[in-house]
Amino acid sequence: MCGIVGYIGKDNAKDVIVDGLKRLEYRGYDSAGIALIVDGEIFTYKKQGKIRNIEVELRRVPVYSNVGIGHTRWATHGKPNDVNAHPHLDCTKKIALVHNGIVENYAELRRELTEKGHTFTSQTDTEVIVHLIEEELKHSSDFFTAFLSAVKRLQGSYAIAVITLHQPDTVFVARKDSPLVIGLGEGENFVASDVPAFLSYTNRVIFLDDFEIATVTSSQVSVFDLNGERVGKQTVTIPWSLSLAEKAGYKHFMLKEINEQPRAVADTISGNLSWLRKETELEGIDLNSFNRIQIVACGTSYHAGLIAKFYLENIAKIPTEVDYASEYRYRDPIVDEKTLVISITQSGETADTLAAMRLAKKERAKLLTICNVIGSTATREADTVIYTYAGPEISVASTKAFTTQLTALFLFTLYLSRERGTLSSEEVERYLRELMELPSKLETFLNLEKEEGVVRKIALEFYRAKDALYLGRHVNYPIALEGALKLKEISYIHAEGYPAGEMKHGPIALIDENVPVVVVATKGKVLEKVISNIEEVKARKGRVIAVTNPSVKKVGELADFILQVPEVDEYLSPVVNVVPLQLFAYYIADFLGYDVDQPRNLAKSVTVE
Ligand code: F6R
Repeated sequence: MCGIVGYIGKDNAKDVIVDGLKRLEYRGYDSAGIALIVDGEIFTYKKQGKIRNIEVELRRVPVYSNVGIGHTRWATHGKPNDVNAHPHLDCTKKIALVHNGIVENYAELRRELTEKGHTFTSQTDTEVIVHLIEEELKHSSDFFTAFLSAVKRLQGSYAIAVITLHQPDTVFVARKDSPLVIGLGEGENFVASDVPAFLSYTNRVIFLDDFEIATVTSSQVSVFDLNGERVGKQTVTIPWSLSLAEKAGYKHFMLKEINEQPRAVADTISGNLSWLRKETELEGIDLNSFNRIQIVACGTSYHAGLIAKFYLENIAKIPTEVDYASEYRYRDPIVDEKTLVISITQSGETADTLAAMRLAKKERAKLLTICNVIGSTATREADTVIYTYAGPEISVASTKAFTTQLTALFLFTLYLSRERGTLSSEEVERYLRELMELPSKLETFLNLEKEEGVVRKIALEFYRAKDALYLGRHVNYPIALEGALKLKEISYIHAEGYPAGEMKHGPIALIDENVPVVVVATKGKVLEKVISNIEEVKARKGRVIAVTNPSVKKVGELADFILQVPEVDEYLSPVVNVVPLQLFAYYIADFLGYDVDQPRNLAKSVTVE
């Protein structure tokens, strides 16, 4: 978490950096700062608060510079305040540094540097790095060597950007376990934690790998390993346009991203059709090499994994386990070369998911990742990548990433099922047709909501609730979990997702007229069972909001509020059913006046364990 930006080139670095920080604010937003080289001195400005709150002041700062770095923080070590905000300076005020990650050996480094006479001003782990470079410089022939020696001593995770009066025409960067990407311009270059930071200037990028450092001038980028040897790097062109990273008239990114789902799902289908149709290879996967699957993921991506288990077991007939990535490595999983491990991750940078992948790789499992971010760590460490084509997801609450993950997982299931003979080619084509109808069905639902505002009206009825219960069964049980997660993370209302049949074993005690009970009750093999569960809620005076299909009359009669969604194949119903629940959470958070895109305590990309 935390976002870093650096710029060197022909424009005013301050404006480019502030712009970039605003686009990275999803990564952390408790304080922000910049450092620039101005008239032979390092100028810094840093402050507690969100970038947009301090943007006006930042823009007003009367300085001009062609080189600088910036940071938006998600505090780990040291409270969010002005002093702990990055950039941090060395004692001589000739080096400024921003950092994303955690320096695990910071306490011993701090002790050592204090003994050598360095003075620390903040409580952060980060500040040790800048003093360490200063210290190394005393024994080094040049700044590059000092930077390299300092980086070698760091334990933990880091993406670092540094500017210095010792070499003012260069931005120095380094990476281990935290993302860092270099943007290539004409007579200017950029560094950032994520591509949207500089997408309005360039879409040509170099992804830094772990244990690499780089020197970036306005005309040249050179990458080295930790022995100081040059490393050849590939330039990647990112197919995202800036409009995807802007609000386009919507009040929040979350609302925009919910409404983008028809396009995102359609792109995910078309972007992956070639391997499904065998026009290209799905490289890195030998379908005969594994006899079971383990899925690892976190949060919303984990919920996609729970649904994929139904796909892979019921359709492709492969035993599948699903684990929270944060639990996987501590449960000593039985994983070997006969296991396919599928990681699902929007960002491709979630520390727990990457750790689970690394454990599986050590045990010789094959790794497939379902990922949204080109060039991210997960895509580089996996044997095979299936991309989702959601485009940049800026809102912290994940929406379009989830529906595109389900789409990609369903496509992979079809591929596997055909190759393993559990589905005929005709059946695959039938499922594919159903999948291809999803975008227009989603579009119809979203357009109707824009006209009639049904979800919005129901949200208005319930936005003062203190608790909510979400129920679902079978493939839609994870949708109950996802609906509850959306509500709690952005509206701070306590919500629980439960398998509807499990309600009577405990949560039924919660039900009264004040607790909204959201039930997913669309057509499928468990519908009758879900209807009985609704009866049980009604018998206890619960108020039921049902997600259902127009043809399911019984639910229409029983429920107090109805969210009607188009009818689709049962396995694909989660893709449709989640959308009203995303909107329900969105409107409630908006009615409560909360910052929907940047909920408290959260960050988009969780790069710490
Ligand atoms: C919830 C949310 C998080 C992420 C989780 C995993 O709305 O956004 O729960 O789903 O942090 O992130 P990725 O998919 O990037 O690994």
